[in-house]
Amino acid sequence: MEMILAPSMLSANFAHLGEDFAQAMQPGVKWLHVDVMDGHFVPNISFGPPVISSVRKLLPETFLDVHMMVEEPLRFVEDYKNCGADLLTIHAEATVHLEETIEAVRAAGMKVGVAISPATPVEDITAVLSRVDMVLVMSVVPGYGGQSLIPHTLDKIRELVTLRKKLGLKYDIEIDGGVKLDNLDTVLESGANVIVAGSAIFSGDIAGNAAAFLEKLQAYKAV
Ligand code: DX5
Ligand code: ZN
Repeated sequence: MEMILAPSMLSANFAHLGEDFAQAMQPGVKWLHVDVMDGHFVPNISFGPPVISSVRKLLPETFLDVHMMVEEPLRFVEDYKNCGADLLTIHAEATVHLEETIEAVRAAGMKVGVAISPATPVEDITAVLSRVDMVLVMSVVPGYGGQSLIPHTLDKIRELVTLRKKLGLKYDIEIDGGVKLDNLDTVLESGANVIVAGSAIFSGDIAGNAAAFLEKLQAYKAV
């Protein structure tokens, strides 16, 4: 699997996104993780289509990996297509229409992911694994950046790697929450290939942080 770094803009400074992106989105960083929060599925509220449209203009080549922490996301599929999302990931816990929503995202011309929160078992999504491009395993309770990784969530990544082989599928496995340089080796060994990092990148030396993550990912790929 391709190793992909997806900096999470939730931890960027919203008053100067352009400057923060100029440091983080260096050559080799092809994805941006975009956390949409509605104040219902999670208590926090982040941003929505108007902000994402601006980001799309700022970063025309970047793959926008949109993580929908939103109740019943089927209502908004067209809006997110129109503002420039490349991939829309929906939470299994956020809808009673999981399959219909997955099909709607694909029909709108985007890639589609399914996400599970820490308390949700892999078995809740096995029925849809053959229909998604990516599985997002939340390694913190969704809602806020800057939390600590919950170790048992890595077991679900290992389970998804085993299932992928057994079922002959190709989905990417994304980990989101609490990933730092000092736990990156363990995270990579679990089998995740799309690595989200928010506070570990958008604090202090942003360019240096992104470069250090990239270097580790590239070294891992070479192994
Ligand atoms: C949390 C978000 C994450 C968050 C990760 O609900 O889904 O994408 O930005 O931030 P860190 O890397 O700081 O845990
Ligand atoms: Zn996220």
